[in-house]
Amino acid sequence: MDNTNENSTQVTNTESTNTVGIEIRNLTKIFGPEPERCLEYVRQGMNKKALREKHGHILGLHNINIKMKPGAIQVIMGLSGSGKSTLLRHINRLIEPTAGQILAGAEGQQVDVTAMSTKELREFRQKQTAMVFQKFALFPHLTIQENTEYGLKIQGVKPKVRADTAVKWIERVGLKGYEDSYPNQLSGGMQQRVGLARALTNDAPILLMDEAFSALDPLIRTDMQSVLLDIQQEVEKTMVFITHDLDEALRIGDQIAILRAGKIAQQGTGQQIVLQPANEYIASFIRDVNRGRVIYSRIIAQPLPAIDGPTVDATLVIEETARLLSAEGKEAANVIGPKGRHLGVITMPDIIAAMVPPHADPDDEDDDDDEPEEKK
Ligand SMILES: Nc1ncnc2c1ncn2[C@@H]1O[C@H](COP(=O)(O)OP(=O)(O)OP(=O)(O)O)[C@@H](O)[C@H]1O
Ligand SMILES: [Mg+2]
Repeated sequence: MDNTNENSTQVTNTESTNTVGIEIRNLTKIFGPEPERCLEYVRQGMNKKALREKHGHILGLHNINIKMKPGAIQVIMGLSGSGKSTLLRHINRLIEPTAGQILAGAEGQQVDVTAMSTKELREFRQKQTAMVFQKFALFPHLTIQENTEYGLKIQGVKPKVRADTAVKWIERVGLKGYEDSYPNQLSGGMQQRVGLARALTNDAPILLMDEAFSALDPLIRTDMQSVLLDIQQEVEKTMVFITHDLDEALRIGDQIAILRAGKIAQQGTGQQIVLQPANEYIASFIRDVNRGRVIYSRIIAQPLPAIDGPTVDATLVIEETARLLSAEGKEAANVIGPKGRHLGVITMPDIIAAMVPPHADPDDEDDDDDEPEEKK
């Protein structure tokens, strides 16, 4: 299924909707002994490479601004070393910012994570956030059940309550029957299911996932994405999901931010990034993506009155629409939105044009200011 991002537009579920959003404001992180001194250079425009060469400091993040919507999946993408983990770890302040703020909470009631006392921060981490790691980070000497309820245990939740909650999520991630197994008796994919069950058992509104699926085989990875999207429909976590995989980002993300050398190169929906890459860097990033499987029919539908022909759903990807048209021997279809509303008409020539990536605009050449990020 490629049109799974649809969940972001559904507003039918009105009960217990997560209201906790995250706002990153002017966040800058400089690693090194004298970050404050270096902040001035960075503010004056010094880039990562120059800061490292001239002052021996690493520019981890530079003036990041992101508004993460409550109950939506925010993907952070970028090459190795671009600052993804640094950004994520600021959200629960495992890393202290050099400048800027992290706000969390409902609109109008946000708390400043960067200003919290040690006690407030501990509370925030335990009650408001849960993390899923790439390397699972399960306790080898604890059973799946014990691992899953661990977070509730340290919060002092009663044994019966935490056991029931854990069982519910173990079942929900497809591991019923494995409660008494130990992590080393499970495959990598299964262990990551435990990682997810453990995070969900904590029942925190914010879920932080750092390359959670990157260590898994491709098929198991796709499977986990489906499990996550499926559960997300129900739990509506405010999720921050890090990946360096574009297909994963496009599939999972309601919003995507692409980092490059500590700066945001572009942010928006997957559709926006694929259809309107902000610069040559992003264009090269998305060049190999299968556009037919990413672009929704509604995006390229023309606002024309209904025609005599087949009907496709607004979020059907254009490859599927093309398949349907050719099967029916038609050149155009009506595109309908929620409740069957007519949105426009999609044609075969428009589909073909959309499948071919646009030429990069040479004037869009970016500032070329960074070092190759694969090499750290
Ligand atoms: N504690 C630290 N001290 C100095 N530099 C650091 C520290 N942590 C991260 N960095 C640097 O900050 C930059 C961003 O690192 P980060 O780990 O956030 O990248 P990433 O995008 O998560 O990479 P990966 O995909 O490899 O996990 C890199 O240049 C890294 O070397
Ligand atoms: Mg990382």
